[in-house]
Amino acid sequence: MNEAEEARLGVLGAGVMGTGIAVVAIGHGVPVVLVDVSEDKLAEARHRVEQQLRHARLMGAVPAKGPVAGLTTTVELADAGDATAVVEAVVEDTEIKAKVLGEVSRLVRPGTPLVTNTSGIPIGELGRFVARPHELVGVHFMNPAYLITMVEVIRGDLTGDGTMTAVTGLLARMGRRGIVVRDAPGFVTSRLLHPMINEAARIVAAGVSTADSVDELMSGCLGHPTGPLRTADLIGLDNLVDALRALWERTGDANFRPCELLLEKVAMGHLGRKSGKGFYDYEKVLS
Ligand SMILES: NC(=O)c1ccc[n+]([C@@H]2O[C@H](COP(=O)([O-])OP(=O)(O)OC[C@H]3O[C@@H](n4cnc5c(N)ncnc54)[C@H](O)[C@@H]3O)[C@@H](O)[C@H]2O)c1
Repeated sequence: MNEAEEARLGVLGAGVMGTGIAVVAIGHGVPVVLVDVSEDKLAEARHRVEQQLRHARLMGAVPAKGPVAGLTTTVELADAGDATAVVEAVVEDTEIKAKVLGEVSRLVRPGTPLVTNTSGIPIGELGRFVARPHELVGVHFMNPAYLITMVEVIRGDLTGDGTMTAVTGLLARMGRRGIVVRDAPGFVTSRLLHPMINEAARIVAAGVSTADSVDELMSGCLGHPTGPLRTADLIGLDNLVDALRALWERTGDANFRPCELLLEKVAMGHLGRKSGKGFYDYEKVLS
């Protein structure tokens, strides 16, 4: 993207993270093409974007008065072909990410930064599937993406200087501050957070404590903002299990092996906030 060109962001995956990232972008005046696999998902996503944008503006998380850029939703990946940057936020599955990133890398113009929001799959590994590996970089937006302004930026071994410069500019434009780390399974944040959540679930399964008491202790004694199990419900227990598996497979470390309680909850469809039930009960956001 040249300096004078208007930014246009392609966001792939309209789930928990894709919608939050879209809110940040349009709220800062960057138009978004949001891609998912079905019109139903996109209809839900448009509704969530609207709600979150209102919330973000009220909270001052995006400019309260500036113009909101346009949001286009589509099931056609090709519609993201003229984006000046792409953020991939599809499910935490290496094969699916490889396919989507590979395809989009062949659609966009050379020089277009490709950002993956993976929770922990190494950037170097995903780089094998894209047309120009130097254009791939990791940006781990946190959840809720529209409220948390710091992001973890992961520079893969092949990520180019031009890509780092472009993504730094894009993040600044979106009011985000990145901390750059090197590539490794789980990077910094997931490597620390995910096993803690897994252990918290094991504690509940063993009957040592209720979920509520785990969270109360971790926030009251240790200053964790919500506690690990409320965080798990916010993340989505399906995504958590996928991310833990990705870490376990790559490190062999049993601390990352998703515990039975998490697997049971996912099998029952108790995925956390997004399904209305996880470790806690919620009013389902969308009917
Ligand atoms: N949930 C979190 O707290 C969190 C935080 C940071 C990073 N992440 C990462 O962000 C990514 C997305 O996570 P999420 O929680 O938003 O998941 P999600 O399950 O809420 O959403 C994923 C979306 O991807 C869509 N999708 C699947 N295949 C697709 C394809 N081929 N093309 C377009 N869309 C496709 C799904 O339909 C779904 O809507 C994952 O890599 C996850 O690990 C999640």
